[in-house]
Amino acid sequence: MGTEDPTAFSESHPMNGGDGVLSYARNSWAQRGAVDSAKQMIQQAIADLLDIEKLKLESSHKFQLADLGCATGTNTFFAVQNIIEAVDAKCKLYSSKHWNNSQSLGLEYQIFFNDHVGNDFNTLFRSFPVLWQYFAAAVPGSFYGRLFPKRSIHFMHSSNALNWISRVPKEVVDINSPAWNEGSIYCSGTANKVLDAYSTQFKNDIETFLDARAQELVGGGLMMLILAGLPDDVLLCQTLIGKSYDILGSCLVDMANKV
Ligand SMILES: C[S@@+](CC[C@H](N)C(=O)[O-])C[C@H]1O[C@@H](n2cnc3c(N)ncnc32)[C@H](O)[C@@H]1O
Repeated sequence: MGTEDPTAFSESHPMNGGDGVLSYARNSWAQRGAVDSAKQMIQQAIADLLDIEKLKLESSHKFQLADLGCATGTNTFFAVQNIIEAVDAKCKLYSSKHWNNSQSLGLEYQIFFNDHVGNDFNTLFRSFPVLWQYFAAAVPGSFYGRLFPKRSIHFMHSSNALNWISRVPKEVVDINSPAWNEGSIYCSGTANKVLDAYSTQFKNDIETFLDARAQELVGGGLMMLILAGLPDDVLLCQTLIGKSYDILGSCLVDMANKV
């Protein structure tokens, strides 16, 4: 059961489900690149920062991990596996230092796969790796709200998901607002008022997100957030992705004008 505030509205645009040619599962190589590039950073962070005694892992024998905005496909499994292997390596080191390899921590892993309720969790669970060594559960709901009990998660992970703000800012679709984003389907960066509206929304959302995670993480828990960004002096409309939004946007405007 989620404890999300039911009045906290969050738009949901789940990825294409199933495993057909147009599914997210078969069209998420770019996102996989981001997950890949964070692999070593995560391993290093766990090696340096995971404090087995502080987390009381040697007495609780359980490690709870959440992937927020997991979608479908293998990216989430890859990320989870990487974290498990890094925690296992840290545990082995602990056991060799403290118990001369005479004992093992015998950790059991529980993984929470979170996404909006409309996510295709059936396909996700059907495509599990053949040998998975963890207890798995789906946690449906928006990560812009509470998803887990207080102090219950040891590691929070999220990749390519936090760039989804909770809603399109009202001003940008209001023809009477100075922030009306006329003729555009995204935040190109050229209109300051539009940029301000999106950036205010992002600031509010990220604060809500961090507030919730701060309550849910155990003391000494770790969090890895992977999201795309741009250098300050580059506008989204100057990038390849911006150009493709321009083309898509102009097609949509043409279609709308035909109605
Ligand atoms: C591009 S996919 C990324 C999937 C996967 N993490 C990866 O790296 O390939 C973004 C996912 O975030 C989910 N998402 C977006 N906003 C969300 C929210 N507020 N709460 C939970 N999931 C959300 C979407 O439904 C989508 O499945």
